[in-house]
Amino acid sequence: MARETGKKASGQEKDASRWDDARFDTKLARAGEDPYPETEFSLRVPIYATKSYTYPTLTEMLQHHYYYARTENPTLSALDQKLALLHGGEAALSVASGMAAVHLACSSVLQQRLERVKPEKMKRLMPQASPGDVPNIVMHTNQYTGIYRLCTRIYPQMGIDVRPVDLRDLDAVRQAVDARTRILFIESPANPTVDVIDIQACADVVHAAGGKCIVDNTWASPALQRPLEHGADLVVESLTKYINGHGDCLGGAIIGPAGTMQDIRYFWLETQGAVMSPFSAWLVLRGMRTLGMRMDRHSANAMAIARHLEKHPKVTRVVYPGLESHPGHAIAKRQMKAFGGMISFELASEAACRAFMDSMKLIKVGVSLGDTTSLMEYTAYMTGIDLAPWERKNMRISATHLRFSVGLEDPADIIDDLNQALEKT
Ligand SMILES: Cc1ncc(COP(=O)(O)O)c(C=O)c1O
Repeated sequence: MARETGKKASGQEKDASRWDDARFDTKLARAGEDPYPETEFSLRVPIYATKSYTYPTLTEMLQHHYYYARTENPTLSALDQKLALLHGGEAALSVASGMAAVHLACSSVLQQRLERVKPEKMKRLMPQASPGDVPNIVMHTNQYTGIYRLCTRIYPQMGIDVRPVDLRDLDAVRQAVDARTRILFIESPANPTVDVIDIQACADVVHAAGGKCIVDNTWASPALQRPLEHGADLVVESLTKYINGHGDCLGGAIIGPAGTMQDIRYFWLETQGAVMSPFSAWLVLRGMRTLGMRMDRHSANAMAIARHLEKHPKVTRVVYPGLESHPGHAIAKRQMKAFGGMISFELASEAACRAFMDSMKLIKVGVSLGDTTSLMEYTAYMTGIDLAPWERKNMRISATHLRFSVGLEDPADIIDDLNQALEKT
């Protein structure tokens, strides 16, 4: 049921434009939540634990926005509004996870929103087999493995040609993009190699061919990078990471033009069902009020640690966008406010990596990132474990690649722990 037209305003602030001139941290602390029509006297938006919204009469129901929690919930509406304001987008939609956000955003560009289809027309919706009629996605060779799997294991089965190219090479981007390119998908900085991609330059190429640019902004968050300002059409975020920042729930979001977001909410999300729970939305609202300060501290800690690792005799390679040695340093300086909390580095051998991973005392061994707690992963054995050796090679994930999500502990304590673990190698 598509309910977006002719209804009373959803449960968002009556006058959201009053935040237009507010600075980023003020929006973080206040926007979307204050004053909130349904909770006029409460400092915080409550958790609306309900599946349906009921009304005394049909007439009143038809006048209101909320009807079923698979499409809307007031706790989620507050989060949506805050995210849209932080990114400078017209609208946002919070969903169950970062992966759900990526899939919903791509679905909305790859396929059409169809309201009614007669049975005799259904066959015509099946993907066309003729080579000239195959839509394609251009993506970076290195991508978060979940997104890489979605693109390489699922989308080809749906008749979509997936073209991984090195997006740092603009000539390669120009060669890969053509009139059938629907999406150029960027992750910057990219997981797990910390590559930096020039968002504006790539967006210009795909726009000239008539396609859309989607940016996964998870490793930067809106506190450090706002891709809509650099030509992106849609932004996706895994709220699970820095935006929530406390490692206690999963969530994702899409940010973009109001019409597209309505399509995604009332057609794609309503049909696919990857809905965020109101409790998770409340946790994210609570966590993200400190996002600006946390990102400053994550970035400062990571900078100090990257410089330390660069000088350490047991470390063979360090990749961090804040280092002058990073090939994308100048681009990162231009499109990011600071360089973030993610570092990748390598040791001399697999044995050294295993000894190191078994010797840390403060830093935890774990997948995911963006928490207050420092997390280390040995990529080949963790998020990269499902990849074939040739895929890891194409993605430049070496057998000694370590990915470090620098937390908010005192950087001197993190460095002490790195030093003592490196001594064991
Ligand atoms: C860049 C990036 N995008 C998306 C995701 C998926 O997010 P989630 O775990 O919330 O589904 C991740 C997870 O690590 C990620 O690193």
